Amino acid sequence: MLRTRDDHDQDGVRLGDIVLRNRLVTSSSLLGYGVANSPLVPYGMSPVSMFVPLEEFGAVTTRTLTTEPREGHFSIRDDYRLGELPGLLKRYGRVLRGTDGGWVNAFGWCNVGIEAYLRDYYPRTRDQRTIISLGGFSAEEFVTLVDRVNAAVPAGEIAAVELNVSCHNVNFDFSTILQDVLDEAVPRSDHPVILKLSPDNDYLRNARQAAKAGVSALTAINTVKALRLDPRTGEPLLANRYGGLSGRAIKPIGLRVVSELREAGVTLPIIATGGIRTVDDCREYFWAGADAVSLGSAVWLASYPGYALAPLRALHVRRVLRAVSRYSPHPRAVG
Ligand SMILES: Cc1cc2nc3c(=O)[nH]c(=O)nc-3n(C[C@H](O)[C@H](O)[C@H](O)COP(=O)(O)O)c2cc1C
Repeated sequence: MLRTRDDHDQDGVRLGDIVLRNRLVTSSSLLGYGVANSPLVPYGMSPVSMFVPLEEFGAVTTRTLTTEPREGHFSIRDDYRLGELPGLLKRYGRVLRGTDGGWVNAFGWCNVGIEAYLRDYYPRTRDQRTIISLGGFSAEEFVTLVDRVNAAVPAGEIAAVELNVSCHNVNFDFSTILQDVLDEAVPRSDHPVILKLSPDNDYLRNARQAAKAGVSALTAINTVKALRLDPRTGEPLLANRYGGLSGRAIKPIGLRVVSELREAGVTLPIIATGGIRTVDDCREYFWAGADAVSLGSAVWLASYPGYALAPLRALHVRRVLRAVSRYSPHPRAVG
């Protein structure tokens, strides 16, 4: 099934009009904006990423950016003093929790906003291939975001923009705006557009809408809507009550979605994310029909003590990166 590096052209791997350095990318948000403000406290980025060459990934996907800065359910400050740390960690525990075989999160699009990203972070990630994730609550907001990226980033300089219309912790019904977003934002973009699909929405329909609207690729899947309660009190563990489940627990769901998209005749390139940790996970997703695979919470997130092993975990990530960048899965995927 797996063919060798010869399938790659000099620029990397082509998925339709999207050029990646190879078929292994990182999932939205797990590596923040691709760079941290302090090397000691990699706020917003997985500590594991400090020991991994991010410029060698197919692309690094940013956290979802909105037209204005948003606290969401957490915080966008990164200047906490030591004494404020316990309060910060408590808030962190209300937006991200480990659960059996995965994580539930409800950050609620906590981000610095598109202007600050393009000004303060993007210029420091020029050595990386980037996918910029955009999120909004109307077609107008998506148009504004696409226009801002067009104005700041010449065509070809990033791999794509990814439209996040499938997040569970901003409490918004994206089906009410999806068609308008596709009609209005996609044709304006100077960059290839990826649509991120939710396993909780009608993803087959959404994929067909995307193909008609000129979207270049799909990312499957976003987190699965989930709930955790304190068993003693019945209180929700997450500040937003509901959150998104990610990690090992959702790998079979991600595989199902990718496979069903292919069975339904969807031909757009698919970037798969959902519980991927090992080279075999990647192989499974390629067999199911994915063209690229994305590392998310199963590799980048850990318990606090677990982060002490970040350098070791990074060695594993490097191995996966080496293996996937050597391979090309099947002829259809070579766009
Ligand atoms: C802490 C956390 C924050 C996330 N934030 C975003 C986000 O801002 N935008 C987005 O499109 N997806 C976001 N996701 C979803 C991931 O990009 C990914 O689609 C999902 O976690 C499934 O992949 P995984 O199981 O490999 O983590 C987030 C996931 C986690 C765990």
